[in-house]
Parts: sequence; C-alpha cells; structure tokens
Amino acid sequence: MVGARTAQTDHPLHDDIDNVVVSSEQIQERLQDIAAEIDLQYADRNVLLVGVLKGAFIVMADLARYLTVPVEFDFMAVSSYGSATQTSGVVRILKDLDLDIAGRHVLVVEDIVDSGLTLNYLLRNLRARGPASLEIMALLSKPDQIRVDLPIRYHGFQVPNVFVVGYGLDYAERYRHLPYVGTLKPSVYRD
Ligand code: IMP
Repeated sequence: MVGARTAQTDHPLHDDIDNVVVSSEQIQERLQDIAAEIDLQYADRNVLLVGVLKGAFIVMADLARYLTVPVEFDFMAVSSYGSATQTSGVVRILKDLDLDIAGRHVLVVEDIVDSGLTLNYLLRNLRARGPASLEIMALLSKPDQIRVDLPIRYHGFQVPNVFVVGYGLDYAERYRHLPYVGTLKPSVYRD
C-alpha cells in the first residue's frame, strides 16, 4: 500500500469547506447499493451511461466501477444560463452525444438536481431520439426546489437547500475534486 491515507477514509478537510454535508464513505456506500440495483435492473441488457458534464464525471466513474453489467459511456455537456449559484432553466448544449441512442437503454447520470430544469430539458431532448429506455440516476437533489416532475429512478441523497461543492460540483470551477460534498465558508464568496 502506498501511504496510509486513502481518499475514502481520511481526506483532509479543504480549508474553504465549512461543513461536510455528505461524506465520502456515505457516497461510496450508497453508490454500491445503487450499482446493485442497476445490475439487477439491466441484468440482460447493455446499458449506456450518459454523463452530464462537467459535474457528473466523478460520480459516473465511481458508479461504473461498482457495476458488473456491460456498460458503455457517452457524455453531454450543457450550460445553464444564470448566476454562479442559481440556474435559469435555459440550457445550451455545449457538447452533444457521440453515439446514436435510438433503441439503446440509456441511464442519464447527474450530479445534482436543483430546480430540475436542466434535466427536464435534457430528458425531452433525449426522448426525441428514440431510446429503448431512459432512466435517471441523480446523486443529489434539493427536493424543495424541484419545479418539474422528474422520474428519478436511482437517487443518492437529499441535501439541504444550500449551495454545495465537491464530488464533481464546483463553485467557479473549483472544488470538483473533493471526495465529499460540503458547503463553503462564507468568506469564499466574499473574496
Ligand atoms: P437545475 O437545473 O436547477 O436542476 O440545476 C442543475 C445544475 O445546476 C447541476 O447540474 C449543477 O451543475 C448546478 N447546481 C445546482 N445546485 C448546485 C450546487 O449546490 N452546487 C453546485 N452546482 C449546483
């Protein structure tokens, strides 16, 4: 073993983090449970994981490594117009899928559902391409703010109605690499 510290069990708290909202251990345990559900659900099928960049790249990588069913990967990049911490619901596709999803079993992997407007737009867009099935896995959600009814099949954690970073989520493109989800110290927003 190289060194005693692992990202799973003993990660130092980043100086800018106020509170840990979901720990690395909680995330990994939940992902293993979700992966077991997905393995059952897609037992006789090939699943295409569609990650919504940039935020989903971490959860997608960890989730996929717990899966035993055959998986393929594709990514979309979207940007929601709005301020740094509030989405507007207007979505622009920055990178489209490489693969044709017609007839495919598609599982969209999303980091966090806040208002749900981004995912709502994506689902409508993907449904129009004729997949055999289309499901959503969202690691986090803020249920108070969901303004649309989204069929989230696999769900990790509900987080409070506050801005969180880490495990793929950024503030001004920073903190995505943290292995946990947490809130930032107020001083970070002031600086
Ligand atoms: P929605 O369209 O309001 O559901 O927003 C979804 C997108 O907004 C997510 O994919 C994130 O990119 C971003 N987002 C929403 N809440 C947070 C947060 O607390 N921290 C970081 N990004 C967030």
